[in-house]
Amino acid sequence: MLSNRVKNLQESATLKINATVNRMKQEGQSVYNLTAGEPDFPPPEAAKKAVIEAVEKNLSKYTPTPGLLELRDWIAKKTNEVQPALSHQPWKASNVIVTNGGKQAIFDCVLALIDRGDEVIIPAPFWLSYPEMVKAAEGTVKVIETSFELSYKMTAKQLEQAINPQTKLVILNSPSNPTGALYTEQEQKELGDVLARFPKVWVLSDEIYDRIDFEPGTWKSFLQVNPGLRERTITVNGLSKSGSMTGWRIGWSVTPDSLTPALIALQGHSTSGICSLAQAAAIATLKLPEGWFEHQRRQYLHRRDLTLEILRKSTKMKVLVAQGAFYLFIDVKAALREKENADGFAERVLRDIQVAVVSGVDFGAPTSVRISFATDEATLREACSRLVSYCN
Ligand SMILES: Cc1ncc(COP(=O)(O)O)c(C=O)c1O
Repeated sequence: MLSNRVKNLQESATLKINATVNRMKQEGQSVYNLTAGEPDFPPPEAAKKAVIEAVEKNLSKYTPTPGLLELRDWIAKKTNEVQPALSHQPWKASNVIVTNGGKQAIFDCVLALIDRGDEVIIPAPFWLSYPEMVKAAEGTVKVIETSFELSYKMTAKQLEQAINPQTKLVILNSPSNPTGALYTEQEQKELGDVLARFPKVWVLSDEIYDRIDFEPGTWKSFLQVNPGLRERTITVNGLSKSGSMTGWRIGWSVTPDSLTPALIALQGHSTSGICSLAQAAAIATLKLPEGWFEHQRRQYLHRRDLTLEILRKSTKMKVLVAQGAFYLFIDVKAALREKENADGFAERVLRDIQVAVVSGVDFGAPTSVRISFATDEATLREACSRLVSYCN
């Protein structure tokens, strides 16, 4: 009775492993959990206060579908700050739609652009929801394989070779979940130069980890580097990761005038505007000085280095040095058993040494696993030491 669209969808691997970890914890087992796809920091005090005030002021009515004007103004302003190359044609509130997390922004853009038969280019390893969203829109996923040696980044040549008359969209994600890879300005420019030659192809730049980069100044917004692609580039962002408020579901898209009305129509008939209280939190967070995010960035960097130092003691694990986000992507090929892939490895380490990692299979990387360093140092130390001894 289920539609083909839904029948083909896969349950999120990260949510599945989290359910197992929670069950084990409930049974009294101790688990070293490295699966978190969310910050372990609290949200900003200013955001909490804004929510309380909004409750007291009875801010309980429907908001406009794309979000409160004040919030959209702030989002446009913040986007313009990282895209000064577009100062001749800055984004306005009318280009912004506030969504239930970055996830809804991406899903709606895919639905709004993709018809059956359209191809979407996705470099692997990818965030596991991208292909499922394309499948839900009945589009075709074209995966571009990348390598550890090239820091899991798609080259301009690969992109050029993959584009064909069916190509409608390319999804880019920097800093990346799951690899922590970050495209340099030059690399983004090279991709943009290719795309400039294919005027029917759209770009979705998922910049949700933008404030979590480890070499200040290296991260650039895609449109800042490629302003000529303004009319066919979608910038997705949100406060789940940088604002540590995954549960408040605050994301957004910034899109050219040709796309925004369709997205508003789609959202108007599905979820409507996001929770009014979350919007109050979002305004308060966006008003914070950029320096507020520094503390977290430094903490993540410290944890990354600590984790790398331990993992490097293993001869069996190849770890990419993350340039951003809060993940390390580990090639465990040398530690796999015969005919085993990362699913088997992840099950084994959970069972044998009580360390929870996410298999790379659903990220398009069957011999790798992802660990998250968005957790406390004691857990990181113990879990990584266990992994190293086990693999060695
Ligand atoms: C790469 C990437 N994009 C988008 C999202 C969606 O984030 P949100 O929780 O705001 O929906 C995530 C969340 O894990 C992510 O990792």
